[in-house]
Amino acid sequence: MIAFDSISAISRFLSTGGLLVLAGVVSAGSFAIVGCDGAEPPVAERGLGDREVRPAKDDVIANMEPAALRRALSSSPLPPPPADPTNQYADDPSAAELGRRLFFDTRVSGSGDVSCATCHQPDRWFTDGLEKSRGVDTAARHAPTLIDAAHHRWFNWDGRSDSMWGHTIRPIENPLEMGGDRTRLVRLVLQDDELKAGYEATFGATSLSLGELPPVASPSGGPRSVEAWERLSPVQQDRINRVTANIGKSLAAFQRTLRGGVSPFDRWAEAVSAGGDGGEILSDSERRGLVLFFGRAECWECHSGPLFSDGEFHNIGIPVPDGLPRDPGRYDGALLVKNDPFNAAGRYSDDVEGRQAILSRGVKRDPESWGAFRTPTLRGVGRTAPYMHDGSIPDLASVLRFYSTLEGAIQLEHHQESVLSPLGLDAQEIEDLQAFLGTLTGPGPRVVPPPGERGTGTSEE
Ligand code: HEC
Ligand code: HEC
Repeated sequence: MIAFDSISAISRFLSTGGLLVLAGVVSAGSFAIVGCDGAEPPVAERGLGDREVRPAKDDVIANMEPAALRRALSSSPLPPPPADPTNQYADDPSAAELGRRLFFDTRVSGSGDVSCATCHQPDRWFTDGLEKSRGVDTAARHAPTLIDAAHHRWFNWDGRSDSMWGHTIRPIENPLEMGGDRTRLVRLVLQDDELKAGYEATFGATSLSLGELPPVASPSGGPRSVEAWERLSPVQQDRINRVTANIGKSLAAFQRTLRGGVSPFDRWAEAVSAGGDGGEILSDSERRGLVLFFGRAECWECHSGPLFSDGEFHNIGIPVPDGLPRDPGRYDGALLVKNDPFNAAGRYSDDVEGRQAILSRGVKRDPESWGAFRTPTLRGVGRTAPYMHDGSIPDLASVLRFYSTLEGAIQLEHHQESVLSPLGLDAQEIEDLQAFLGTLTGPGPRVVPPPGERGTGTSEE
């Protein structure tokens, strides 16, 4: 259940500390890595590590609880994404290049006019600014960012995929999103000289020939597509699935290159860790927000670690228009990931006995998880409005007003999040927290879409 175990040793260590805090088992020893010996002297005397002890000049931070300061410092920097052993091409540049081409290619969709970048737009921090995404039709949920998303263990709001590559087939075949299908996708790659060369350069030649591929065929498509799929031999089906999985692996390799970069908060943490006070990096309001975030407001209970997400599923009961939530969230997601033929334990994974495979095989559908969604990262959050799995909260001030009052929160007897209670924030505190959230955005990746494709521009401002 711990989401961070494959990042770097340091962040694993710190995140484990974070989870212990969540479980109420605070172990000062587990924070030793940031230089605390457990005795917890006041920050000003502690000197953060072995460095020279000097008084902090910054009152806002000097008065911060030592535990809160440790949490803040352990939330930076964000290391590179953890290795993905289920995808042996995860960090292969030629796979990433093929993935980049396909990401912006509208021919991947059934209608020919939707690409991944329709909903994950480089100049919107790889989101789309809509409540619910629109592709071929309106999707069921709000599009999360893909920047730094390779850090997640479970993908999507409900965690119904356990890898980025395994997820890829879902939007492509989803009739509301891209309305395509896997056989059509394989045909596209085999028919296009450049895509074919890119595919073969990474994965080697496929034994599939265009002649044996029907125009559309998929086990999860419309009736015509399913019928065509059933007419294929199991060997052909397997070969199509294999090429589809490889294409997914190339799209994942591209997405792993999407990094948010060093944010003002990271620069503050670096300065403070080096013995400075960081006062020149964040404004007074931003620093007050930081103190609240890692202290009294308890945001860190779930938005923990350098990704600002514990990777787990929680029901925070966001209000729904008629008071009747319909999205089962993780309750269905658990079943979907377990039964996914493209999961880490499946035959197209490159690590079927690995840790993720074991986790995915063991996932249980728990009634407690009805209406729970994965804690989103807060890195880049200033760029990704509107918010929540259904995009129902338009801006950060409204998100914070919700946490402040929990007004309209859906109370579901047995699956309630015990951690949340109304924070009673005043207007200044809401402003400060909002200002702090704004410091979590780095420069973003520089992405140059292939010429002639949709979604031009870079995500840099
Ligand atoms: C029609 C809009 C749309 C298109 C097109 C689309 N997506 Fe998404 N994407 C979404 C939505 C909505 C979600 C959240 C789905 C959910 O949680 O149910 C999502 C989730 C994701 C996630 C999970 C991110 C996370 O934090 O867990 C990844 C990865 C992803 N998409 C990649 C892609 C790729 C690659 C493509 C192209 C093959 C693509 N998407 C096409 C809307 C879209
Ligand atoms: C109990 C765990 C928990 C706590 C505590 C918590 N959050 Fe969240 N947060 C979540 C979950 C889960 C979601 C997504 C909920 C959904 O979509 O239904 C979320 C969503 C958000 C979002 C929207 C992000 C997006 O991309 O849509 C923001 C912003 C946010 N939280 C900030 C905060 C702040 C600030 C605090 C402290 C005041 C806080 N959270 C406390 C679990 C938590």
